[in-house]
Amino acid sequence: MRKLISIGTSLLYATLLSSSSPQQDPDPFLTKPYLQIGDAPSLSGATTMMVLWHAGQAADDWKVEVQTSRDKSWRAAGQPVGQTVSAPAGQPQIAGRNGAKKDAPAPPAIDPHIVYRVRLTDLVPGEEFHYRILKKGVPVFDAVGRARKSQRQGYRFVLFGDCSQGTPSQKAIAYRAYLAKPDFLFITGDIVYGSGRISEYRNKFFPVYNTDEPSVANGAPLLRSVPFIAAPGNHDTALANFQRFPDALAYFLYWDQPLNGPVPPDGAVKATHVLTGSAEAQAAFRQGAAPRYPRMANYSFDYGNSHWTVIDANTYMDWSNPSLREWLQKDLAAAQSAAWRFVAFHQPGFNSSKEHFNEQQMRALAPIFEAGHVDVVFAGHVHNYQRSFPLEFVPKAQPDGTLRGPKGEVAGDWKLDKEFRNGEHGKPHGVVYIVSGGGGAELYNPEQQSDPSSWQPFTDKFISQVHSMSVVDMEGKTFRLKQISETGDVVDSFRIAK
Ligand SMILES: [Fe+2]
Repeated sequence: MRKLISIGTSLLYATLLSSSSPQQDPDPFLTKPYLQIGDAPSLSGATTMMVLWHAGQAADDWKVEVQTSRDKSWRAAGQPVGQTVSAPAGQPQIAGRNGAKKDAPAPPAIDPHIVYRVRLTDLVPGEEFHYRILKKGVPVFDAVGRARKSQRQGYRFVLFGDCSQGTPSQKAIAYRAYLAKPDFLFITGDIVYGSGRISEYRNKFFPVYNTDEPSVANGAPLLRSVPFIAAPGNHDTALANFQRFPDALAYFLYWDQPLNGPVPPDGAVKATHVLTGSAEAQAAFRQGAAPRYPRMANYSFDYGNSHWTVIDANTYMDWSNPSLREWLQKDLAAAQSAAWRFVAFHQPGFNSSKEHFNEQQMRALAPIFEAGHVDVVFAGHVHNYQRSFPLEFVPKAQPDGTLRGPKGEVAGDWKLDKEFRNGEHGKPHGVVYIVSGGGGAELYNPEQQSDPSSWQPFTDKFISQVHSMSVVDMEGKTFRLKQISETGDVVDSFRIAK
């Protein structure tokens, strides 16, 4: 087993290794430990962090210990709590039925397994902490994380969407993200392809973002040290057909994020998804997803001097619903003392790609973002990178009084701040809209990068020939974004200074 890393060193990422003790055989983990911010939306949560892992069987011999710079030695964390997750077998897929494109055998059942959760407490905001998992009193895993930053501490985040498709680019971006040493990593939806299933998390998500050794070819040990935070995309939560995929909606089973969003009436159309398929599969899902389903689709949290609002932009949501709009307005109004306000969701309102062009439903919220003094809106869904000019938008109603046209388009007038450039010449007038959907899935519209005549008037930058991620540094009243390609090149950069 490797020597323990001393707390407070900068060696965290250089020396991070998991250590499975040779005394423990077989590997006790179905999925190795990973960090989540948990249901701790406010900065008081900066002293806490959730650790999750999956195991094949329930056992009461797990222990977790933590050490911070204030601890002379390891101290016990709370007792891990296990929750059983399972899914029955699905139905054979027949082309043309239930959305199946081709015939396929029935998806196999997912054996019952246990998702363990433990909350680390009394962390020192912004500082490294060391944690380890013990089984039968023997350490079987250890890693170093960093507690959430407090209001006066700068921070760095990496952001991308549309990632876990098992491609070489997904792994290269994971490696680049690891090299960037972020405080957290945000995924703007479409976390796993193609249907947000347990089996897909096991094949394409955990092995890439929590592999033991960092490499361009395989990914990196990120999840154990860097909390991931996510917005749900269509591939995560819009395919709630349990007849076809009984192990769908794994977002609600495996993530642990704030539960402070609006509470949709269970199953209400246009306020949450509607589950379909076998009663057995639905019951298994609900057991594993409580209390996160459906509430965890929308939430907000504070990190450093910023407030983040994360919303579900899937088309089963109707953001003209007054109660949803009111929640968003109130959330932003309550965050006016934060230095920065960011909103993140999956489907972009302002997109120049021919792909997904008509999915403009989120434009309808632009006036709320502007009134709430939102600085930057992050989206994914479109597999490339786009940056808008700072803009203000006034939606125009269709003849029937609704905002969305027959294809989903939202008409209106925009006012563009073309003087802003890269932020070197003053403050932006309006909201900057970022599409950062180049996290690994196949790129969209590479031909448009060199053809600005194909871009919409609101688009300033358009990078679609290479996968990329956003690396953002927050330091007081300065925001700096660098868009880094999978080969490490800076393909865009800008700053906002207040
Ligand atoms: Fe998507």
